[in-house]
Amino acid sequence: MPDPFYLTTAINYPNGKPHIGHAYEAIAADVIARFQRWMGRKVRFQTGTDEHGLKMARKAAEQGRTPRELADEMASYFRAMDEVLNISFDRFIRTVEPEHHRASQALWQAMEAAGDLYLDRYEGWYSVRDEAYYDESELAGEGDEKLSPQGTPVEWTVEESWFFRLSKYQDRLLDLLRTPGFCEPESRRNEMIAFVSGGLKDLSVSRTSFDWGVKVPGSEGHVMYVWVDALTNYITGLGYPDDTEEWRRFWPASLHLVGKDIVRFHTVYWPAFLMSAGLPLPRTVFGHGFILNRGQKESKSLGNVTDPLELAERFGVDNLRYFLMREVAFGQDGSYSAEAIVNRCNAELANSFGNLVQRTLSMIVKNMNGDLERFEQTPADHELLKQVRKACAVDLPREFEALAFSQGLETWIQAVWACNRYVDDQAPWTLKKTDPDRMKAVLQTLLLAIHDLALALQPVVPEKAAAVLDMLGVDGDTRSHADFERDWFAALVDAGHTIAAPSPIFPRLELPEAESV
Ligand code: MSP
Repeated sequence: MPDPFYLTTAINYPNGKPHIGHAYEAIAADVIARFQRWMGRKVRFQTGTDEHGLKMARKAAEQGRTPRELADEMASYFRAMDEVLNISFDRFIRTVEPEHHRASQALWQAMEAAGDLYLDRYEGWYSVRDEAYYDESELAGEGDEKLSPQGTPVEWTVEESWFFRLSKYQDRLLDLLRTPGFCEPESRRNEMIAFVSGGLKDLSVSRTSFDWGVKVPGSEGHVMYVWVDALTNYITGLGYPDDTEEWRRFWPASLHLVGKDIVRFHTVYWPAFLMSAGLPLPRTVFGHGFILNRGQKESKSLGNVTDPLELAERFGVDNLRYFLMREVAFGQDGSYSAEAIVNRCNAELANSFGNLVQRTLSMIVKNMNGDLERFEQTPADHELLKQVRKACAVDLPREFEALAFSQGLETWIQAVWACNRYVDDQAPWTLKKTDPDRMKAVLQTLLLAIHDLALALQPVVPEKAAAVLDMLGVDGDTRSHADFERDWFAALVDAGHTIAAPSPIFPRLELPEAESV
């Protein structure tokens, strides 16, 4: 049985349409899911929408419709985004689903049975934008101008509320946060250790001033604090509280991928709820950085909000995926612009890899009629293939395993450049006249290298990598990491396979005049 790998994204608030940050997280998670499958693991990948809470209720009221109407419409855009971006999820969860209500109530009852819930009165600050309670000491500014650490407005809230005994878990949470690998990257871990060391207050976990949420069992007038039900989505999707096959196989989660702003909810509140309910804890929470538009946060007031689907349409889905994974050191913030996308994709995909594929296949068609034959490798051929194989089968997987996508792709592009240097050194166009057998060996060496390069690039640019492997004649069932070890080339030679004239897979991107400054 392959190792199970359960991966989740944060579930998005569908109070508006998806933006580039949502696309970034979905793409990164998809790269991880595809990579883990490629490595031979049994992956379950869950994403979805977080539809309850005051933010949704207020947005719907502003628009004169019910929260459910707003949620239904907006959730459909998130699903559509996932389809366009080629996100290979197994489960898209919506928190309005009845089974999610059931799971949230079951978790609640488990926490209640543990003696961790009590009724009291909440008096304090709340940010509707963050759906978060803040302590006075965390706020900046004065009076009505007070802002949360995320820079969002806060409002004074007083209401009867159920409380969760978060304070009771302080020591266990500190031990957990200090466990290597639980909270990544290190900067977020340190922030969380500082937060918990500062002392934890009990958490208000229900609301009475509105009713758009999961009902608290046996407590008329209370709905759960939206984060209690939102976090539960990760286990709802496996069938909790039933003892399902998915539950037994995939819980605890291997990785919760979330943005840096919500690491607190995932590494403090969520493990405390699970500890209280006696359930196993997720292995890793990774807080990725934010994507900025030319260094600035996108916002309606700045008028710089970009529809990720427009970017995908304009530059191509795989180009956008490659850019985001390559340009930004995963874990840190990163910036994007039309020029940066065009420059990166042209330099690396079109001019380097695309050109290598195009040149090699065209020369094989032109000078060898597309026929493949066995050949003797010289030390130079051997050297190149060894370097390419190491980059694709060892270095890139090692970096991707550590979620260091940009570094993994750096080793990949170095291998592409090594191939382009080899073409220039070997000059097959000259060999054509002086030593045709050697020319054939050079071209076929390149074909072997292209196979490895395309195989390794599949998690990032699934469609384009598949198109290259199709042109090579590589069987669709033999494209996993384990297939590096197969002699696919000998199989093609034996089958008398011929290479057809290549169609361009990595066309150069153009930047409209207005944006080239
Ligand atoms: N609904 C909560 C998450 C609940 S998880 C149990 C939420 N939703 S959100 O729509 O505001 O954000 C969804 C994800 O997108 C979060 O991981 C968030 O950090 C991420 N991003 C939001 N803006 C972002 C960028 N500009 N860049 C990268 N990711 C960002 O929080």
